[in-house]
Amino acid sequence: MERLKGKVAIVTGAGSGIGAATAQLFAREGARVALADIRLEGIQGVARAIETAGGEAMAVQTDVRSADQVREMVRKTTERFGGLDVLVNNAGVRASHSTVVDLTEEEFDQTLAVDLKGVWLCCKYAIPELIKSGGGAIVNMSSISASIGQPMQGAYNAAKGAVEVLTKCVALDFAKHKIRCNNVNPGWVRTEMNRVELEEMENRGGKPWEEVLRLHPLGRVGEPADVASAVVYLASNEAAWVTGASLYVDGGYCAQ
Ligand SMILES: NC(=O)c1ccc[n+]([C@@H]2O[C@H](COP(=O)([O-])OP(=O)(O)OC[C@H]3O[C@@H](n4cnc5c(N)ncnc54)[C@H](O)[C@@H]3O)[C@@H](O)[C@H]2O)c1
Repeated sequence: MERLKGKVAIVTGAGSGIGAATAQLFAREGARVALADIRLEGIQGVARAIETAGGEAMAVQTDVRSADQVREMVRKTTERFGGLDVLVNNAGVRASHSTVVDLTEEEFDQTLAVDLKGVWLCCKYAIPELIKSGGGAIVNMSSISASIGQPMQGAYNAAKGAVEVLTKCVALDFAKHKIRCNNVNPGWVRTEMNRVELEEMENRGGKPWEEVLRLHPLGRVGEPADVASAVVYLASNEAAWVTGASLYVDGGYCAQ
């Protein structure tokens, strides 16, 4: 049975990695999907792949840092598909590896603008449409970084930590409208965000790669599909009584 049959979803950052895998699985589960990303090429490719497989998708170039563009993303989605049921806030960037002393103000602001403000803006403009639909689900792509400190990642971890709590506030504010809001918290996943770094470590082998595997007791890093399945669960009616929660999809990273 298709678990998202009849639902309309927006997936941000859908042009690559976890977002692309999520959008494609959503379509296979029966959802009609608006693919939003700052880069058009990726989402056009994902839209073509979904349509070739018999699904329905629309690419909407969107910078989640811009209120105007986010408003337009929601408008185009409801205009095309007639409503909105699910928002997946997945677009994200990682700052360079640096201590809080070496981090520039510009990089701090840019990281928070995408990873935190972008989530808020998408909630702000999507929630009124979810209310019109009689309820819905928001899934925020958080991270293991939301709940632990990691060296040289102050801006990214602070942004993800803030999203973690924002999720709980949204869950409380809109529970009466039957809107659920949850986090997915991946460990290290093989995507463009860290592909080069992971490949270099894996090819070199030795201690650094052994350490990556030790951090993930299931003995491998994640693949986008591992995370997409968790997003489908939280977006679907199977999670009807789950809100304000964080689902760790991390190969056991945070169990240690
Ligand atoms: N890869 C990992 O190890 C990992 C781990 C935990 C959490 N995450 C989170 O998963 C999410 C997806 O990341 P990914 O690993 O698939 O990386 P990715 O780089 O493959 O995908 C991120 C996507 O977000 C888009 N994006 C960036 N800035 C944007 C903006 N301003 N507006 C709209 N779109 C924008 C990019 O164009 C890209 O398509 C991110 O929120 C990331 O923080 C990733």
